[in-house]
Amino acid sequence: MSNVEISQSGVECVKIALGADHGGYELKEAIKIHLKNKGIEVLDTGTDSLESVDYPRYGFAVGEAVTTKSAELGIVICGTGLGISMAANKVPGIRAAVCTEAYSARMAREHNNANVLALGGRVTGVGLALDIVDVFLATKFAGGRHARRVELITAIERGEKL
Ligand code: RB5
Repeated sequence: MSNVEISQSGVECVKIALGADHGGYELKEAIKIHLKNKGIEVLDTGTDSLESVDYPRYGFAVGEAVTTKSAELGIVICGTGLGISMAANKVPGIRAAVCTEAYSARMAREHNNANVLALGGRVTGVGLALDIVDVFLATKFAGGRHARRVELITAIERGEKL
């Protein structure tokens, strides 16, 4: 099977980039299996073990994979989701959102056009995390007034003063 649609309303995700430090490694592996079971292709940027590593490298790798279009969307995981999301958000064009429940994951896509989901491997259990992933991947950007606001975020990125 090649490209699989997650939901009737959601984006058709061809490839998802995953990245985690040691604090997110186990959840990354669970998400990888989950996505593969749905027929979704995964680009795994590491890490590959529980050995301590520096989360910015993985936030950057996923951010770059998304902005270079090697993947449609990304998922980054560290202990809390915080550090790795901060790193991913430094890659121009990345809008990474830390989510601990599904409502925020839906809004992150619908209103903020988030292109990276950040999760905390030491915060969110696997079952809830997989629900959050499914909602994030199934939700489309609403556009309209939200597009104007997202464009203002991009203007800040370009160094403009609002
Ligand atoms: C690593 O111990 C931890 O600091 C990291 O996984 C993450 O939570 C940082 O934000």
